[in-house]
Amino acid sequence: MRMYDIIRRKRDGEILSEKEIQFFVRGYASGEIPDYQASALCMAIYFRGMTVEETTALTLAIRDSGDRLDFSNINGLRVDKHSTGGVGDKTSLVVAPIVASLGIKVAKMSGRGLGHTGGTIDKLEAIPGFCTDIPTAEFEEIVNRIGIAIVGQTATLAPADKSLYALRDVTATVDSMPLIASSIMGKKLAADDDCIVLDVKTGSGSFMKTEEASEELARLMVGIGKQAGKKICALLTDMDKPLGNAVGNAIEVWEAVRTLQGEGPEDLVELCIALAAHMLYLADKGDLGACERMAKEAIGSGRALATLIEMVRAQGGDVSYIETPDKLLAAKHSLDVTAPKDGYIHCVDTEGYGVAALLLGAGRNKKDDVIDHCAGIQLHAKTGDFIKAGDKIATLYTNSEATLQVARDRLLAATFLSNNAPAPRPLIYKVIE
Ligand code: URA
Repeated sequence: MRMYDIIRRKRDGEILSEKEIQFFVRGYASGEIPDYQASALCMAIYFRGMTVEETTALTLAIRDSGDRLDFSNINGLRVDKHSTGGVGDKTSLVVAPIVASLGIKVAKMSGRGLGHTGGTIDKLEAIPGFCTDIPTAEFEEIVNRIGIAIVGQTATLAPADKSLYALRDVTATVDSMPLIASSIMGKKLAADDDCIVLDVKTGSGSFMKTEEASEELARLMVGIGKQAGKKICALLTDMDKPLGNAVGNAIEVWEAVRTLQGEGPEDLVELCIALAAHMLYLADKGDLGACERMAKEAIGSGRALATLIEMVRAQGGDVSYIETPDKLLAAKHSLDVTAPKDGYIHCVDTEGYGVAALLLGAGRNKKDDVIDHCAGIQLHAKTGDFIKAGDKIATLYTNSEATLQVARDRLLAATFLSNNAPAPRPLIYKVIE
């Protein structure tokens, strides 16, 4: 078998066999297939798509490209959540402590930023000392002791995805349904969780821009998960505007902590409660209404925040940054972005907001770019708000002053003002079970 033929066949719209897909995934994970051939195949998949059978074969090949985790040393039900990626999406930092504080184990492997979207690992690394790369035995010990640990993908868990993820991030091949589905489900199936809640985003800030495409992705992933014997559901949720008011890394940890302190923005709180409730529901903690009440109580009582603090301490982080979250807001330079005229924010190109954050230093242009954890955006007005000329739309933060103007221009170009208020959009479109 030759990689050249596999690329050519997919380029010409042919269906790849299970053996060809395995050949590619094994070869790329082992380093025998170079980046340029893998990029070419990803681009061919991007344009030609894959059948459900090809996507399932790709998912299983990714799952089998490394070790399958065995969490039999972790006592109790393990529940995970995974988002398809968005702008300002810090729900894991809120939801995982809520669920863990209620007795469900969260042994979470998270990712880094991808394209214009942020990643939980980059966010957690904004907490000085926080270690996202800990040995499995220690990871299990922390999960058993406090109910939660969040680490990056290990070198041996779905290593094909680890390489493909970084490659896709810089080759404009992220927003492909089979590549997203196999990336997420390959990792999820390699981990040893009992239940999975997927947060599938839809709208201008997500990889799938339309509700139909997002729903198709959600159904594809739920189908693959079910086939593999997992309890799984997907919430189809809005990403036509950033989630919450903070976009970046340290600033998103700040907003997540404020949310656990009971001071979160309405949309973020609503989505976190819904995701946590579905995780608790899959873990048989009660009906959805009861699970929602439990999740709210975990915030109200401070129990979820205490769990986050314990996790940060256990993973070597400086807990004073959680106890006094304003310490996280330490960028050297800032710039207010103001409205050029009066009007409603009719809509925003949310991807453009993600790119503005990336330009400030919050994301990567190349695989090995180093992130400025202080870089980010605080939003003062969002879609549907009426603003007057000169009102602040956002404040930009960075340690690299030279990025401020270009990020400002990007954010303004992504903000569309109108005399008419936009029709409201739901935050949660539907749940796919
Ligand atoms: N999250 C992932 O893990 N993979 C993708 O491809 C997109 C989002």
